[in-house]
Amino acid sequence: MDIQDLENKLKSHLSKKRFKHTLSVRDTALRYARVFQEAGLSFLEKEKSLLDEKYLNKIEIAALLHDYAKEIKNDEQINLAKFYGLDIYEEDLDRPNLLHARVGAAIVEEEFDIYDSIILSAIKEHTFAGRNMTFASKIIFLADMTEPNRDLKGTSIDLENIRALIIEKKDIELALFLAMQKKIEYVLFERKMLHPLALFSWNYMVKRTKVHANN
Ligand SMILES: [Fe+2]
Ligand SMILES: [Fe+2]
Repeated sequence: MDIQDLENKLKSHLSKKRFKHTLSVRDTALRYARVFQEAGLSFLEKEKSLLDEKYLNKIEIAALLHDYAKEIKNDEQINLAKFYGLDIYEEDLDRPNLLHARVGAAIVEEEFDIYDSIILSAIKEHTFAGRNMTFASKIIFLADMTEPNRDLKGTSIDLENIRALIIEKKDIELALFLAMQKKIEYVLFERKMLHPLALFSWNYMVKRTKVHANN
């Protein structure tokens, strides 16, 4: 897929603000991915042979398309979720915009003929994370949360700390864990419903990530 063509399409498909965020997520995601690429890949285990230019290209496409469905109206989000046979939670009905990542992955598959599971799962998992995330999914989730225009207030974790964990410490698991904590704290601060998918991811991360309370 030609990246310039995709950018042109997104420019007319998305609002100015969303397009700016999208490009910023792309730049951030590629920056993070290159940090790990240059650092050596011993921590990537299964995926270590994958972090080549082809894999970076998948990260770029996923980043550009991650919010493709973000600006679809509420009723339409629900209709599309039904049309694509997605699981719809009660919390989705309350805030249909929460469907945009899952709906987005389904639309992208159909509209762009993208069947690559790395790209599709990265789009799908960008709001609530997931269990068994790929490296690409983690990078997209982190880039979406920490791109320079982002600021989530009312939480105990500074975005700068998460950025430093990625770029300087190259600790993607701890960065992901703290980003998830920050996201959940923000939902609580805003006194909004916590989506079950976010809770599943959080519980999974608590079990898998060795993080002490003082980190
Ligand atoms: Fe999003
Ligand atoms: Fe986003």
